[in-house]
Amino acid sequence: MITIMDEEILQLLRENPSAFFSGEQIAKQLKVTRTSIWKRVRHLRAAGYEIEASTRSGYRLIRSPDRLSSSEVKPLLGTHRLGRKIHYFQTIDSTNSKAYELALGGAEEGELVIAESQEKGRGRLGRHWFSPPFLNLYLSVILRPKIPPQGASLITLMAAVATADAVQKFTGLVPLIKWPNDILLRGRKVAGLLNEIHSEVDRIHFVILGMGVNLNVDGKMFPKDVRRVATSLKKETGQRISRKAFLLVLLQELERWYAVFLKEGSSPVLKAWRDRAQIKGRPVKVHSFGETWIGIAVDLDSDGALILETAWGKKRVVAGDIEYKNKMSNVKPQSPNGKNTISNS
Ligand code: BTN
Repeated sequence: MITIMDEEILQLLRENPSAFFSGEQIAKQLKVTRTSIWKRVRHLRAAGYEIEASTRSGYRLIRSPDRLSSSEVKPLLGTHRLGRKIHYFQTIDSTNSKAYELALGGAEEGELVIAESQEKGRGRLGRHWFSPPFLNLYLSVILRPKIPPQGASLITLMAAVATADAVQKFTGLVPLIKWPNDILLRGRKVAGLLNEIHSEVDRIHFVILGMGVNLNVDGKMFPKDVRRVATSLKKETGQRISRKAFLLVLLQELERWYAVFLKEGSSPVLKAWRDRAQIKGRPVKVHSFGETWIGIAVDLDSDGALILETAWGKKRVVAGDIEYKNKMSNVKPQSPNGKNTISNS
């Protein structure tokens, strides 16, 4: 575990990267003994920090590991609103649960919860999110937009657009969004969003924007049930991804899109989402609250619901999963409750 004292030592060493800091200087600044500095340096080395030590000159930071701690990330942040405070954990049950708890306790807009791994990473619809250590990104952002609760789904669409833009800026690959907010590369999921809201009837108290991005996980590491449908940026690009560098781009895109949403409202977000999703006119199968609907995707409603043209007429689907079908003829007619049959012809 990286302690506050470790963070302080690193901060000092980073201030002047080419210079040595003597153990005595550091100890004096931190008001501790030289022995405790020596012990923490030994610990930092074990945690992957390359620290040169010379008996005469002291310590110098040569290289940091790809860790997402506050001291690693904050000095590099190009954002104003997001990341002013970072709550960092080596491991946690779920960054969303922690962010929710912090927000209930008064955490401010833009505070982040980042973990190197999650023991109970949560996905949409009660699923589990595979969260192995030091490979991917597990991030929750606390937002406090002054909008009514009905607008919350637009925040989700906005975050999906921002994530897709970040993936494209970082890799040059062009991701698609799959309704409602999965980010796909070559048809496989590379990122997912789990957004949770705390509100009263006419006012949002806060939104927790939970973002999971598969960065360096290898295909064969995924649990069997998702192996066929999941991917990572490393798998798609053939290159190891710097998690820190990706996080910086993601936060920048998120801050940009959040500002657009607050200033200009839903239209630019919906337009960008539609461009990325290319869903209009596609035959789809939708699973929603135990029902299965088959039809042609007509559009995304202004609140983020999916509008389907089915044999039963128009249907609005507010939550669920979709499967794309190549042709309507490949889609077996199916009723919403499994008993009646919808005809697609
Ligand atoms: C999905 O099912 O597509 C959503 C996955 C969201 C996963 C992220 S990882 C960070 C945050 N903490 C969680 O427990 N879940 C979200």
